[in-house]
Amino acid sequence: MTRLFLCDDEEEILIYLKKLLQRRGYQVETFLRGADLLARLEGRGDEEVGLILQDVRMPDLDGLQVLRRVRKLAPEIPVVVMSAFGAIDDAVQAVKLGAYDYLTKPFPKEKVLGVIDNALEHRRLALENRELRDRLSQQAATGEIVFRSRRFREIFDLTLQVAGSDANILIVGESGTGKELIARLLHRHSPRREKAFVSLNCATLADNLLESQLFGHVRGAFTGAIANQKGLLEEAEGGTLLLDEVAEMSPAVQAKLLRVIQERDYTPVGTTRARSADVRLVAATNKDLHREVAAGRFRDDLYYRLNVITLALPPLRERPDDIEPLALYFLRRFAAKQRKEIHGFADDALQRLTEYTWPGNIRELENVVERAVILTRTQLVDNDALPLLRPAVPTASATDRPLVALEVVEHRHIAEVLRQTGFHKSRAAEILGISRKTLDRKIAEFGLADTEG
Ligand SMILES: Nc1ncnc2c1ncn2[C@@H]1O[C@H](COP(=O)(O)OP(=O)(O)OP(=O)(O)O)[C@@H](O)[C@H]1O
Ligand SMILES: [Mg+2]
Repeated sequence: MTRLFLCDDEEEILIYLKKLLQRRGYQVETFLRGADLLARLEGRGDEEVGLILQDVRMPDLDGLQVLRRVRKLAPEIPVVVMSAFGAIDDAVQAVKLGAYDYLTKPFPKEKVLGVIDNALEHRRLALENRELRDRLSQQAATGEIVFRSRRFREIFDLTLQVAGSDANILIVGESGTGKELIARLLHRHSPRREKAFVSLNCATLADNLLESQLFGHVRGAFTGAIANQKGLLEEAEGGTLLLDEVAEMSPAVQAKLLRVIQERDYTPVGTTRARSADVRLVAATNKDLHREVAAGRFRDDLYYRLNVITLALPPLRERPDDIEPLALYFLRRFAAKQRKEIHGFADDALQRLTEYTWPGNIRELENVVERAVILTRTQLVDNDALPLLRPAVPTASATDRPLVALEVVEHRHIAEVLRQTGFHKSRAAEILGISRKTLDRKIAEFGLADTEG
């Protein structure tokens, strides 16, 4: 007989569910407090537990906290969470933490039984297919880079082209455009690939901590330095060091970094002996570093040293062709992770995704798709699973807008005229004041397609 654990702080719910599930032939144990559930799991030995049904809002311990510990204690047991009506974000959060599925209160009995049967059946299959699943998740971990646009193809090719040299590289791009991904690609294709890739976020640490992280320190160098600590430069020796959000680096650390580049050596905090350094530096920033230099916040000599080659990642709204393949890629990944059979997006959902301007770029798209996969119970993601994604109201005045290449403005404008004319090419050509032939060439060049159908 399959054993189920139920945990909820409302006794009536436990009684109702217990009766229902016992009648279906399950053996049921109930818990009023998260702590009791955890204690029982800890002491279960090799008793088989088929499934756990738990509330995400409980008074004694936060339900999500309980879920985290349950997943640690018993990763093999599927968990279905129950959330209050309208508290869909709790459910989404729970599934992200590894819950198999969710039920929203109040729940009719067919729904409860359906979700539980499903979870148990999937667990059976999952055990059978464990090997296959391991393979799938490994694939996802290799960091595939997905794109279709010509704009991104250029950056991708340039990355591979400069990977072989030892030049320092500056990667610029808005938040979420894939700077770290490109830095890793650069490393993987460089002669240093067998050595470490180390990443340091310069924005998250106070000045003195950043220095000791980067250069290391010896015991007693400052209060709290209780042991020798290797610096990231040493860890990255022979490999690549990514200095993420480099614009946030203080003038003092900037000066020391410059020395690393010029003299190829540095001094760990608390010592006087210099160590030599052999690392390739890749710096990333979402700021206009040139402007930071002009404003006196970033050393110009360091800027020129770091910026031997620039890789400028375009924001997603400037390469709308990439939205669809990226969305499908994330859909496949998250569907495999959630063990769901979802094949794609409904037309209206795809349209909503491609028309949005994505201020948070690919990271935002990734989050939206993950949430949609969690909320979808059919084979296609439709608009109901997507947030509203209203195009942002432009608030920046013309002079505050980031400066872009003429080509970008041209691309945007042609796309807009085509959209407004319903892809009526001769009308669009007339409005744009160019010939039909020129327009056709531009359409091919920018990869503009009639997405309205
Ligand atoms: N072309 C791509 N193909 C697949 N996944 C991508 C692509 N570009 C970005 N991603 C994914 O989007 C997310 C954000 O990318 P990444 O962390 O590299 O961006 P970032 O520019 O460093 O962002 P931030 O400025 O916020 O640190 C990551 O999960 C990354 O794997
Ligand atoms: Mg990053």
